[in-house]
Amino acid sequence: MEQTFIMIKPDGVQRGLVGEIIKRFENKGFYLKGLKMMTVDKSFAKKHYEDLSAKPFFAGLVEYIISGPVVAMVWEGKGVVLTGRKIIGATNPAESAPGTIRGDYAIVVGRNVIHGSDAVESARKEIALWFPEGISGWQSSAHSWIY
Ligand code: PPS
Repeated sequence: MEQTFIMIKPDGVQRGLVGEIIKRFENKGFYLKGLKMMTVDKSFAKKHYEDLSAKPFFAGLVEYIISGPVVAMVWEGKGVVLTGRKIIGATNPAESAPGTIRGDYAIVVGRNVIHGSDAVESARKEIALWFPEGISGWQSSAHSWIY
């Protein structure tokens, strides 16, 4: 089953949005398979965003991510990578539709509350980086027709 990596960024934690964000993914029908709060250091943040190291905003993005605790999660379900990105909304909150997390709770790209993997392959890499200890293997006991 498909999995994605979702991170509630320091501003999302500071603003008390953790429960609201989890609720949106649970209400949709996705399954929470991994969850932890952690404060990452600079080298870890650089590793997570290594594909963006040449971008002019890279240093600011790294400082933002290390500025306080984040909530790292693994969510599972059919099409969860793409649908998760839809739940999150466009990267720039000025372009995020109302009803999405960023559309409802963010204003500027440099404080956009949440990260979600952009593809199945990047999800696999990000889950391996953030959850080297592995994640829970629990399965829903609901019948498949409820899904
Ligand atoms: S790009 O330039 O198209 O590769 O970037 P994009 O895919 O739009 O965004 C990748 C991540 O960089 C963050 N980002 C920024 N952070 C701070 N300041 C600025 N100006 C900025 N622009 C983009 C953006 O939120 C993405 O982070 P994640 O955590 O993946 O959402």
